[in-house]
Amino acid sequence: MSGQGIVRTGLTLAAIAAICTSLVAATYQATHERIAANEKALLEQSLEPALSGLFYDSGVSESRLVLRPPHALPGNDPALIYRVFAGSEPVAALFAVTARDGFSGPIRVLVGVEFDGSVTGIRILQHRETPGLGDRIESTRTDWVFQFEGRSIGDPALTGWAIRGDGGEFDQLTGASVTPRAVIKAIRDTLLYFDANRDAIFAAPATVEDD
Ligand SMILES: Cc1cc2nc3c(=O)[nH]c(=O)nc-3n(C[C@H](O)[C@H](O)[C@H](O)COP(=O)(O)O)c2cc1C
Repeated sequence: MSGQGIVRTGLTLAAIAAICTSLVAATYQATHERIAANEKALLEQSLEPALSGLFYDSGVSESRLVLRPPHALPGNDPALIYRVFAGSEPVAALFAVTARDGFSGPIRVLVGVEFDGSVTGIRILQHRETPGLGDRIESTRTDWVFQFEGRSIGDPALTGWAIRGDGGEFDQLTGASVTPRAVIKAIRDTLLYFDANRDAIFAAPATVEDD
């Protein structure tokens, strides 16, 4: 091939590579935005069920704190905290955290905690657990998540925050104990965090950003 031919081929390859790179980048961006929008929609639908039985002011989603990793809450993803008030009184906080050790990867969990430290409600926001096995953590499939309502870090004692098969107080799922183990640990660690940081959580200014 002549020198000119080599240059032309090189330029063509470079142009193709540039087009492919921008296509991949555009696809990633579109997918990423869609996933973020889906999580946001699911989160907003789940906020109220996770606060069952409480009276509180609207505008919960404006009170959001975003904790970028590394943070002391479960998971390596950003943790979200929604503060819930009635007038000026703090009522509850909702945490979106990640249980890292699910059977098929991370499980995003919404943990509602009343000001006194008891669980108001738990909802599973996102997971990839196996249909018929680990997916029974979903509130639409079984009542497994409801067993945590009203429980707190002293009830049961820390050692009781485990499945019965591990000597704890909570039901497992037949044939699928990996998933419940991961979720229970994330709930327990969120309650411990709330217990240690309650005043700071309600005093912090909301995070101003869009994601
Ligand atoms: C294909 C396949 C998928 C599985 N999916 C899950 C799952 O989503 N969650 C889970 O906890 N266990 C799952 N298991 C079972 C675990 O490997 C493990 O056996 C089980 O969690 C132990 O539960 P047990 O102590 O109640 O028997 C799966 C197993 C197989 C073979």
